[in-house]
Amino acid sequence: TVLVVDFGAQYAQLIARRVRECHVFSEIVPSTMPAAEMLAKRPKAIILSGGPSSVYEEGAPIAPDGLFDLGVPTFGICYGHQVMAQALGGTVENSDVAEYGGATVAVTAPGMLFAGLPHEQAVWMSHRDFVSSAPAGFTVTASTDVTPVAGMEDRERGFFGVQFHPEVLHTEHGMEILRRFLYEGAGCRPNWTMVNIADESIEAVREQVGGKRAICALSGGVDSAVAAALVQRAIGDQLTCVFVDHGLLRKGEAEQVEKDFVAVTGVNLHVVDAQDRFLAALDGVTDPEDKRKIIGREFIRVFEEAAREIAGEQAAEPVEFLVQGTLYPDVVESGGGTGAANIKSHHNVGGLPEDLRFALVEPLRTLFKDEVRALGEQIGLPPEIVWRQPFPGPGLGIRIIGAVTRERLDILREADAIAREELTRAGLDRDIWQFPVVLLADVRSVGVQGDGRTYGHPIVLRPVTSEDAMTADWARLPYELLQRISTRITNEVREVNRVALDITSKPPGTIEWE
Ligand code: XMP
Repeated sequence: TVLVVDFGAQYAQLIARRVRECHVFSEIVPSTMPAAEMLAKRPKAIILSGGPSSVYEEGAPIAPDGLFDLGVPTFGICYGHQVMAQALGGTVENSDVAEYGGATVAVTAPGMLFAGLPHEQAVWMSHRDFVSSAPAGFTVTASTDVTPVAGMEDRERGFFGVQFHPEVLHTEHGMEILRRFLYEGAGCRPNWTMVNIADESIEAVREQVGGKRAICALSGGVDSAVAAALVQRAIGDQLTCVFVDHGLLRKGEAEQVEKDFVAVTGVNLHVVDAQDRFLAALDGVTDPEDKRKIIGREFIRVFEEAAREIAGEQAAEPVEFLVQGTLYPDVVESGGGTGAANIKSHHNVGGLPEDLRFALVEPLRTLFKDEVRALGEQIGLPPEIVWRQPFPGPGLGIRIIGAVTRERLDILREADAIAREELTRAGLDRDIWQFPVVLLADVRSVGVQGDGRTYGHPIVLRPVTSEDAMTADWARLPYELLQRISTRITNEVREVNRVALDITSKPPGTIEWE
């Protein structure tokens, strides 16, 4: 493994992903982890990430004691570069001039990281402090107008540092520099491949679950689908999947889970038709938070009943495990430690009651979203499942603005199906992050259709682009496509006489309307 030491910047996750793109496994550890604990993970290399601090600030994070005596090749990036310089006897200075954004570095001595690369390179910078002199034993390999030591290395001891961000795409040769550190500087081998990941995860699940039984709630989303398929590969019929049809799904979704997923994986599926129950619970409710709470609560109750039923059927072998599609970003964001991460995972299923205690099986907890998709493909899931856009748990319930009724759900389902169909036909599925379609159920406007006056509801299209759903931008879909969607919706969905486009980014708008 390669340890990415997190000094508190958002870059640590990106660095970890880039390392994995070089087919080397990486994990993120906090900068407060003692060096001995890091060594116990037997890292092939250590990368010190960027961070928001100045090494001179009170309480600024520092490298753990003894980190540079571990004999592990180490690469400092940005703040990590400064930490390394300072710890090994170089000097770091405050500057009046910050360097943010694009810059050009000049290679002063190629060393290992820059050998054979152009003398001048575009890089991405984000710093104010700078290394003014490298520690003894280091060669200065690159500099800019404002940063005398933009690159340094001590190949003999296995220490490398750069002031810029190689993990950012704006750094022209960033990936090449990272690869050199990993392969040449640290002797890592590119063996983190999807075939290995699949094999190792399946083996790990087998070992964890043994001969016991497990259940999994399928949402229809990619994470739970890949997790379930993987566990099914590992333990076969010992797994039962529960699919709660709450009636808030999109057109064809329940069928897709029942047919496509089961056909491909051969998984045991327990479908609960709870449409009436959810509709009854949502009757007359308009407040978004109330809707979310009710849907979450009902989901847990239905799942709980199903779990009891399944457990009862198999009284001789109780269900001991619950499979969850927790991803690595959730694990990192909730503190990285196992304890903290579990709190979050339990939240995903909500508070299951005491007598339904499960041990968690989380086969995706070391993976990023794009790796989950690749893994899904590797284990043979169809593209319709693997490339599905995210869809919120509360479903169409939070895309009807106003109370949820069966009739309104039918209207929205039709409009949504048209929008999705046209997006797919235009070949743009993978270019946009998500395409919520929203029904303003309590709003009516006057229109004219044929010779008659209409008084119908508006539909709002909310296509967005995003990398992680934390921020988003409205997708610039081609006008012709928007026009086709608008025409078809107003022609084919009788109750809708107006189609609007949401052109709000996030922030200030969220992706969903509720
Ligand atoms: P917002 O609307 O907050 O949504 O910008 C960010 C992302 O999260 C999804 N979302 C949910 N997913 N359960 C989920 O599983 C939920 O309750 C939920 N609410 C929002 C949303 O679709 C978007 O991808």
